[in-house]
Amino acid sequence: MTERKIWRGFASDNYAGVHPEVMAAMMAVNEGHEVAYGEDTVTAQLDALMQKHFGPTALSFPVFNGTGANVVALQACTKRWEAVICAETAHINADEGGAPEKMGGLKLWNVPTPDGKLTPEIIDSQMFDIGSVHRAQPGVVSITQTTELGTLYTAAEIKAIADYCHSHNLLLHLDGARISNAAAALDVPFREFTTDAGVDIVSFGATKIGAMAAEAVVVLNPELHDSIAFLRKTSMQLPSKMRFLSAQLVALVEGDLWQRNARHANAMAARLDAGLRELGVEIPNPTQANAVFPIFTAEQTAKLQELYRFYVWNVATGQVRLMCAWDTTQEDVDGLLAAARGIL
Ligand SMILES: Cc1ncc(COP(=O)(O)O)c(C=O)c1O
Repeated sequence: MTERKIWRGFASDNYAGVHPEVMAAMMAVNEGHEVAYGEDTVTAQLDALMQKHFGPTALSFPVFNGTGANVVALQACTKRWEAVICAETAHINADEGGAPEKMGGLKLWNVPTPDGKLTPEIIDSQMFDIGSVHRAQPGVVSITQTTELGTLYTAAEIKAIADYCHSHNLLLHLDGARISNAAAALDVPFREFTTDAGVDIVSFGATKIGAMAAEAVVVLNPELHDSIAFLRKTSMQLPSKMRFLSAQLVALVEGDLWQRNARHANAMAARLDAGLRELGVEIPNPTQANAVFPIFTAEQTAKLQELYRFYVWNVATGQVRLMCAWDTTQEDVDGLLAAARGIL
């Protein structure tokens, strides 16, 4: 194997490696044989753990990635003529290469939001022509926790959305690619802003918080239980050697690894946010979890990007995204701040 150059940056929590405890968990289940496709002892352990976290009606279905989790979950929530309401900035709309449309056959009614968050009022703006065959009928609302702009819904805000959905014949899906960062930031258990708030189905993220490649669809509404196993297979998201995906998820949710990793990433983002504000940098959205969205001039961004990799989020405004991961260190943050001090 060629020698790798080791570097660190702020591009994405997906750029980070696998947490050693997750790697060890995969190694620990490597010996011998187990039944394939999910009928193994590790997946059984995961089912029980997810029920502990999300309540006794929860059923979990490991999948390879977050896009797959979303496409499987949203198909379960819609009939052939129905559509999804989501924020314009939602990953399903902006960053999944059209997978929900192409693979799930889903129409997305996407709406602008000030901060990546939907509200009952914003959702209501899409609730017209109900009963008209000319318009794809809203069947499910999809929210992202934390949002693609680094903001956070409170449990009460999600409950208000769920109540609106259920009184308008809509289901509620939560894209939880960063659900651990959200739970850690709110300092509540997962179920407080999912099961207890009325969410019907969750895409549970693990990769960004230290897994190698493992996410899960967690079905909270028993009426959706039956279809998921079939949809996961037909959507090419049924792993044959499932025990290795389940082992990653078990390692994160069995104890407090999910929380330790998330708290750390969030704390690094808070440090970065404070340091940048001290330098007088404008940060329009509040930093509520592990991402910071400051505004730099194009020249400042170009100079900083010579040292650290990160994404420009909005070319027009100069807003960039600085993402902290479970392995971001104080030295990483202080290094970026020192570089910014020299450039600004
Ligand atoms: C909000 C959100 N949802 C879903 C995903 C899933 O992505 P992937 O299919 O790359 O695992 C991501 C990844 O960046 C994300 O940020």
